Amino acid sequence: MTLQSGQKNGSGITLGITGASGAIYALNLLKHLCCYFDEVHLMITDAARVVLATELSLKVPEAPTKIQSILAEYCDCDKKRLSVYSRDNWFASVASGSSAPRQMVICPASMGCLSAIATGASNTLLERAADVVIKEKGQLIVLPREMPFSTIHLKNMLTLSELGVTVMPASPGYYGQPETIEDLANFVSARILNHLGVENDVSVKWGYSG
Ligand SMILES: Cc1cc2nc3c(=O)[nH]c(=O)nc-3n(C[C@H](O)[C@H](O)[C@H](O)COP(=O)(O)O)c2cc1C
Repeated sequence: MTLQSGQKNGSGITLGITGASGAIYALNLLKHLCCYFDEVHLMITDAARVVLATELSLKVPEAPTKIQSILAEYCDCDKKRLSVYSRDNWFASVASGSSAPRQMVICPASMGCLSAIATGASNTLLERAADVVIKEKGQLIVLPREMPFSTIHLKNMLTLSELGVTVMPASPGYYGQPETIEDLANFVSARILNHLGVENDVSVKWGYSG
């Protein structure tokens, strides 16, 4: 499946934002996903809200309707495309294989989140949604962030990789000579969009620079 700009993916996509550093990657990705997908199903952990406040001075309250308004405005995207769920909304479509989108990205992914998914904990809606995508043989992409990785972290990533999960640390290339932090975030979003089958010109492509 390859989508191009202006062509929407009717089935939607699920985005999880957890409490690892790199909130800028999450919101940059959210902006692009809202452009390319009809519906973005969003879950944000409590720790992620702390990181958003710390790194971007963006205060995001707990209520899903407020999160929807604030993030739609921040990302300049259509509020109607954004569905936000609380951590225990088990009636959300993403909680069940019968109706969940088959594509999910967790950006950034905390080490705690990776551990929960690798063991199938499913204690929160975000963890359950990831578990559903794995069991339904859908596409799950995680962007782990920690430095350095411990053997525990690496083992959890190996477990996920062996399950077919794409482990894609936010590690932007510098060959496009980025000038701003947004350029770096666009690089990461573009690589994610490529893996989702979304044809895009969000960032430079190797071999197309001149
Ligand atoms: C500002 C800030 C930055 C953090 N950065 C990281 C990080 O890069 N990686 C990580 O695994 N945890 C990081 N943490 C710790 C996690 O937020 C914490 O382990 C939390 O329990 C993760 O929960 P969650 O997976 O539900 O979001 C950070 C916390 C804060 C407040």
